[in-house]
Amino acid sequence: MSQSTHRPTSEPPPASVSATARRGVKIVTPIPGPKARQIVEADTRLLMTSTKTSPVAAESASGVWITDVDGNRLLDFTSGVGVVNTGHCHPDVVRAIQEQAAKLMHFAGTDFYYRNQTELADRLTKLTPGDFDKKVFFTNSGTESAEAALKLARWNKQRPLTIGLLGAFHGRSMGSLTMTTSKPAQRARFLAYAGGGQHIPAPNCFRCPYKLEYPSCDLYCAKILKELYFETSMPPTDVAAMIAEPVMGEGGYIVPPKGWHQEIKRILDEHDILFIDDEVQAGFGRTGKWFAIEHHGIVPDMVTTAKAIGSGLPIGAVIFRKSLDYTYQGAHSNTFGGNLVAVAGALATLDVMEREHLLENSRVQGEHLKKRLTELQGKYEEIGDVRGLGLMVATEFVKGRADKTPHVKLKDRIIEEAYRRGLLLLPCGKSSIRYIPPLIITRDQVDEGVDILDASIAAARQAG
Ligand SMILES: Cc1ncc(COP(=O)(O)O)c(C=O)c1O
Repeated sequence: MSQSTHRPTSEPPPASVSATARRGVKIVTPIPGPKARQIVEADTRLLMTSTKTSPVAAESASGVWITDVDGNRLLDFTSGVGVVNTGHCHPDVVRAIQEQAAKLMHFAGTDFYYRNQTELADRLTKLTPGDFDKKVFFTNSGTESAEAALKLARWNKQRPLTIGLLGAFHGRSMGSLTMTTSKPAQRARFLAYAGGGQHIPAPNCFRCPYKLEYPSCDLYCAKILKELYFETSMPPTDVAAMIAEPVMGEGGYIVPPKGWHQEIKRILDEHDILFIDDEVQAGFGRTGKWFAIEHHGIVPDMVTTAKAIGSGLPIGAVIFRKSLDYTYQGAHSNTFGGNLVAVAGALATLDVMEREHLLENSRVQGEHLKKRLTELQGKYEEIGDVRGLGLMVATEFVKGRADKTPHVKLKDRIIEEAYRRGLLLLPCGKSSIRYIPPLIITRDQVDEGVDILDASIAAARQAG
C-alpha cells in the first residue's frame, strides 16, 4: 500500500521512451502495454478505489526484477512496499512455503499448538532489543499489529490516551487509524477521533515545526511533550502509551535527530507510560539493523512488525515484555495469526537474511545509494533533501531550496517517467520519493536504478 496522491494514467507513453533498453531492464512495449491496459481497466471497474501508484501489472518476479504481463522487465525499487527484503520469490523461501503447504496449512495457532510458531517466536524475541523476557502475538498485517499493541497497552494501563506523531502511519483499521495522521485523506470522513488518540509534532529537522536548528534546539521537539502537553491537554496519568516509528515511513522517511528517542523515553518512563515501536516499515533489516530502533539506543516495551517478515506472505507480530501479557484467556486472539505457511516463509526469511548477510548489504548498498542520490542533489536543485538509513532512503522534491515549497507535481511526474523507463518507485510524504529495493540488490543494480532516475528527473523537469 502506498500513499500516492496521484492517480496513475494508463495512457501509452510517447514513442521516445517506449523503446528504452538498458542493462537488466528490458522494455518491449510502452508501459502499460496492451495486456496491462486491460487489467488496469478491469481493476478500475471492479476493485475498490485504494492507493494505486503506477499502471504496472506484474506477471512474475525474481530478485529485484518484475516481469509484467507484456514481457517488460522492470527494476523494483519498492520491494512491494517494503515487503520482499529477501528479493522476489527467493528459492529458499519458496521451497519452505511449498513444503509446509503440502504438510499442514491451517489449524488455528491461537486455539491449538504449532511447533513452528514457538520457533519463530523464540527467534523474534531474541532479535528484538531488550534483555528481558518477552512474548509474541502473531497477526496478519501491520494494522493488526498496531491494534494488538494498542489494546495490550490499554488493557494493562487502564488509561484512556495514546500519543502518536503528526505525520505518522500505523494502519487503516479503526484503532490504528486514530493514530495515523500522514495524510488528511486517510482520516477524512471516518470520524477517527474516538479511541483516545493524541498527537504531537514529529521531529523533522528538514522542516522543523518550531523553526529551530539541531543541535542548538536542545531537542525541544521531545521536551515539549513534558513542558507543554503534559501540562495542558494530556495529563500523563491518563496516557497508556506512545506509539512511534523509528523512521517515519509513509510520512516521508523522516529520521528523528540523535537523542530524540532517548529524551522521549526518559519522559515516558517518569510516568510509567509504555513505548510502542512501530517497525512495520523500518524493521527487519531495512535500515541495516534488525530493528531500526537500534539506531536510537532505546529499548521499547513493544515492537510491532509485519511487511518484510514473511517475504510476501501476510504475517505480522507484536513482540512485548512478558510482564504485559494478558492474565486470562479470551481478551485478545484471532484466526489466521501465525498461519503455518506464513510462519514457514518467515523462518526461511530469517535464514536467508542471516546466511546472505542482508543487514550488511543494506548498509553497504544504502551508503552507495545515498552517495549517488546526493550527487543528483548537486545536479538538480529540486532535490531539497536526501535522507534515510540503510536501504530506507528518500529524496524530497522542493520548488526552491530556500523556501522548500513541496514540489508535488514534479514528484508525481518523476515516478511516471521512471516506470516508463523500467524503474518502479513509490512516493512518501507530500513530495518525496522513497528508494527501498530488496536488500539483496547489487551495486550495479543500484547504479542502473539511479541512472534511470537521473533520466526521469531530467525528463520530468523538461515537461514542467
Ligand atoms: C509504519 C507502518 N505501520 C503500519 C502499517 C500498516 O501495515 P498494513 O498495511 O500491513 O496494515 C504500515 C503500512 O505501510 C506502516 O508503514
